[in-house]
Amino acid sequence: MSDLIEGYLGKTVEGKKSRLPAKLDYIQSFTGGFLALFMWAHMLLVSSILISEEFMYTVTKLLEGSFIFEGGNPLLVTIAAAFIFVVFIVHAAMGMRKLPGNFKQYQVMRAHAKNMGHDDTKLWFTQAFTGFAMFFLGSVHLYIIMTNSADIGPYASSDRVWSEWMWPLYILLLLAVEFHGTIGLYRLCVKWGWFDGDNPRETRKALKKVKWGLTVFFLVLGFASLAAYMKIGMEQVERNNVGNKFQPQAKVMEYKMINKNVGGIA
Ligand code: HEM
Repeated sequence: MSDLIEGYLGKTVEGKKSRLPAKLDYIQSFTGGFLALFMWAHMLLVSSILISEEFMYTVTKLLEGSFIFEGGNPLLVTIAAAFIFVVFIVHAAMGMRKLPGNFKQYQVMRAHAKNMGHDDTKLWFTQAFTGFAMFFLGSVHLYIIMTNSADIGPYASSDRVWSEWMWPLYILLLLAVEFHGTIGLYRLCVKWGWFDGDNPRETRKALKKVKWGLTVFFLVLGFASLAAYMKIGMEQVERNNVGNKFQPQAKVMEYKMINKNVGGIA
């Protein structure tokens, strides 16, 4: 009954307003912060390909829990991706509350931002635009990874990027996620006053520089990694090797030695 009254009047009979919007703001901040930090780890892991194919393979196997299961178990990656997907959906649902609901609202926001000439208010538009783009781009990637977790590795990932046409999606997703993530973390710092110190105005300037530095760093790292996957993907096509998985050096040697022994006996 109380919900019904608040629904019509905006207040309960006691004249109180719901605390839910504040709680939802917490959830939005928490899930956003978690996803942004996850993305840093994710980009560092994906960039293992820049060191070597062998290294990327080792990282993949470690994430599949190869230290527990013989040869690794991709189910672990599926579970992690499903968990990230849930957090991603919750965060998107919380973010939707802040998007303008119709053209009039959009016009008011636009006029307000222009009139204020305030950079941080303009950042909001970047957040809304990149967030909206990620609804689609991020969902495609997460679903594919979740259902194809056994096909992650130096060759399998490169085949997906090049032969399965993921690279155009990754270019857009990379841009969206890097801007969205670092702006989001900056806004979290400002919103909750984490590093305010004695002079919040100065801190804000410093934070903005750090934000730009991080955006550039992760974009360069991301595009360099993407270029590496694309190059390996093209080589896979040239070598007629698409669909074949990477064989680590140690395994190839083991295989050759086994073959030799058999040959010796025979
Ligand atoms: C547990 C969850 C995730 C896993 C296991 C995962 C795994 C991967 C892997 C293996 C790649 C290399 C390319 C490929 O194999 O297709 C990749 C690339 C990429 N992922 Fe994810 N991903 C996850 C979540 C996300 C999320 C939430 C986002 C952003 C919304 C994201 C954005 C990207 C981007 C932009 C690339 C291309 C990066 C580049 O090549 O530099 N990923 N991911």
